[in-house]
Amino acid sequence: MNRIDFLLNGAPVSLNAPPATRTLLDWLREDRGLTGTKEGCNEGDCGACTVMVTGRDGTPRALNACILFLPQLHGKAVRTVEGLTGPKGQLHPVQQAMIDHHGSQCGFCTPGFVMAMATAHLNGARDHDDQLAGNLCRCTGYAPIIRAGRAAADAPVPDWIRDAPPEGAPAQNPALPESSDDLAAWCEANPDGVLIGGATDVGLWVTKGLRDLGPVAFLNRVGDLKRIDIGKDEIRIGASVTLSDLMTAMAPLYTSFAELLRRFGSVQVRNAATIGGNIANGSPIGDSPPALIALGAVLHLRKGRTRRAIPLEDFFIDYGKQDRAPGEFIEFVSIPRGPDILRCYKLSKRFDQDISAVCGCFNFTVAGGGVTGARIAFGGMAGIPKRATRTEQALIGQPWTKETIEAAKAGIGRDFTPLSDMRASAGYRLHAAENMLVRCFEESRGAPVDVLAVRP
Ligand SMILES: Cc1cc2nc3c(=O)[nH]c(=O)nc-3n(C[C@H](O)[C@H](O)[C@H](O)COP(=O)(O)OP(=O)(O)OC[C@H]3O[C@@H](n4cnc5c(N)ncnc54)[C@H](O)[C@@H]3O)c2cc1C
Ligand code: FES
Ligand code: FES
Repeated sequence: MNRIDFLLNGAPVSLNAPPATRTLLDWLREDRGLTGTKEGCNEGDCGACTVMVTGRDGTPRALNACILFLPQLHGKAVRTVEGLTGPKGQLHPVQQAMIDHHGSQCGFCTPGFVMAMATAHLNGARDHDDQLAGNLCRCTGYAPIIRAGRAAADAPVPDWIRDAPPEGAPAQNPALPESSDDLAAWCEANPDGVLIGGATDVGLWVTKGLRDLGPVAFLNRVGDLKRIDIGKDEIRIGASVTLSDLMTAMAPLYTSFAELLRRFGSVQVRNAATIGGNIANGSPIGDSPPALIALGAVLHLRKGRTRRAIPLEDFFIDYGKQDRAPGEFIEFVSIPRGPDILRCYKLSKRFDQDISAVCGCFNFTVAGGGVTGARIAFGGMAGIPKRATRTEQALIGQPWTKETIEAAKAGIGRDFTPLSDMRASAGYRLHAAENMLVRCFEESRGAPVDVLAVRP
């Protein structure tokens, strides 16, 4: 790994060949003595290590330093809690508000909270429940923290907090490719190398699995993989598009998909995690594949100069087995444009920052009172994200009625043999999936079915 350059609390830093999988958190605490950034879980779950990172687009983002590798910072500006106060020691408005509203008790979580809040403040985000969903606090019960966030919302942004990232000079480093052509060359030279998108999965292989990854390449500077092209007939989503950017793009097109993504991890996780990583990891409980499959997505893969496209559902062969050859990578995923009829339901033990027990996505076309098209996909119901083909067949050509839905429910038991694990039992999963079908029908009739919309 060659030299990387970034700003740390406004001052330039150059690191010569840092270990590719050294985390920002370890480096801050161990090499720089910046111990304000805390280690809670070391796996992206608690937000104690939250820092503010500004990339080439100039937008500051809250990220978890514990699963952020140093090379991912090249050309960016990092701000830690030590850089939050002004040059004369003035408190940032969110720090003052945390004092005024008693938002800190033991204080361990506090630096992470103020960094998440300061980033939200800088971006003008006022949805504090969402903005702080990735920060855990055991002492305050959250109300004082949310009060502090609201109290600080109207305060002007202090001028010392705005970072202009250094010029994004190309890294001159094959492990930090700038284009998909460069990436294709790296993959051919390193067919067993590890690609790193946002590192929200791979980071844990290192911090929890203590794995030595061998050769790695980072995808965060591959410009053409970071594009979302919304065309007349199809939407192309580059593999390195983050879940945050995808959520913003989907909000006006597929509202229910965007709402599903709002419950994907937390702000910090979505700011790092990429759609390519969420597909490539092959997880049976990844949240985006069921929605994309229900939308009829096509996956575009590349190996060297050879490109191929397959229906997304065909990529998932079996648990832990995907249709991807050594040296091949995901370039983008495309979805045909269609009306906003997709409905997505995520069932997890916690509303925020939790992995799905079952995730069901339904794309029905109803014309003249009858079902003319049906694509249904589930996560958490098999070893892979999977279509409910028998259930679809039971619906197509039938009238869109409660009786049809009740009859079609039996199809789910024929489509899936779910497992029992710590998230849910097999029986619960099956029952929940059947109920999602009913929920989709009831929603189409205007019934309030969202957990936030249902009132006693
Ligand atoms: C706290 C926390 C909460 C989470 N919550 C959720 C959640 O709610 N829902 C959910 O679905 N997931 C969740 N995850 C899992 C994870 O965030 C997602 O799977 C994420 O999309 C992975 O993307 P990434 O870019 O970080 O992948 P990485 O960790 O960078 O990579 C994951 C895998 O994909 C491969 N890869 C990446 N890009 C490509 C490419 N272009 N071509 C080929 N291979 C590639 C990598 O080599 C690796 O094998 C959570 C994770 C954490 C830590
Ligand atoms: S230490 Fe918990 S998210 Fe980083
Ligand atoms: S103040 Fe103690 S964990 Fe938040």
